[in-house]
Amino acid sequence: MSGEQKLKGKIAVVTGGSRGIGRVICLKLARLGANIFVNDVCDQAIVQGILDEIAGAGGTGSFLPFDVADTEASSKALKSVIKDHGGVHILVNNAGITRDSLLARMKAKDWDLVMSVNLKGAFNCTQAVIMAMIKQRWGRIISIGSVVGSMGNPGQANYAASKAGLEGFTKSVAREVASRGITANVVAPGFIETGMTAELPEKVKDRLLSQIPAGRMGSPEDVAEAVGFLASEEASYITGQVLHVNGGLICD
Ligand SMILES: NC(=O)c1ccc[n+]([C@@H]2O[C@H](COP(=O)([O-])OP(=O)(O)OC[C@H]3O[C@@H](n4cnc5c(N)ncnc54)[C@H](O)[C@@H]3O)[C@@H](O)[C@H]2O)c1
Repeated sequence: MSGEQKLKGKIAVVTGGSRGIGRVICLKLARLGANIFVNDVCDQAIVQGILDEIAGAGGTGSFLPFDVADTEASSKALKSVIKDHGGVHILVNNAGITRDSLLARMKAKDWDLVMSVNLKGAFNCTQAVIMAMIKQRWGRIISIGSVVGSMGNPGQANYAASKAGLEGFTKSVAREVASRGITANVVAPGFIETGMTAELPEKVKDRLLSQIPAGRMGSPEDVAEAVGFLASEEASYITGQVLHVNGGLICD
């Protein structure tokens, strides 16, 4: 098998894959040979860009629209992929949102929304594919956490809790299914240049940069490389781990 096509024959679902980090993960897994299902809540027209890029790289990609926070919709969409294509091998729980505010002013609805997309979304999607992975005795569940889940961040109590929750979720799933050839890991990015961080005020960005030993923000490619590795056969003995991709922002 050529190094570039290590994931040939594998079916991968990437949630929130139309832009940012998810988009680059889709492209990375496609270049490795996986058949990609790009999930998102946006219109087909927006996803077409990444589908064209996947095709341009010689890969295969389709749009799989659903809201990860909706248990029934997630299950229906993922079960249809399993039925029509014989399985899901790689699930990347990447969809994530922020609704930042200091705790004193945080609205309960913003707590609930962030939890339902970032944490319950991972539960919904993982539960929908786990039996198929168990039956095929091979699976990779990779959830995109955040450095903030480990270190906290003022104004992000909801987001940090959801990302810390993903770590506990992942470690439990890893222990449940390790004997079936399935791994579950978290890739925890630091501060990555995407739409999510473009909204940060310059002052905040400068402060953040001064704390990153690598002296730069990360790129979506930095994150996608880690995901590509964890999805590979070579990473079959790595499970229940949090792989930090943060330029040394935290070292633990
Ligand atoms: N950008 C960063 O610096 C950074 C750092 C650490 C972690 N992360 C995490 O990486 C992941 C991707 O972040 P990004 O910066 O690319 O964000 P982004 O906002 O650019 O992309 C997120 C994608 O998720 C989709 N999405 C939102 N809600 C959804 C839902 N309910 N169902 C399906 N799709 C949904 C959005 O439409 C969007 O395409 C997130 O989980 C985020 O928390 C990002």
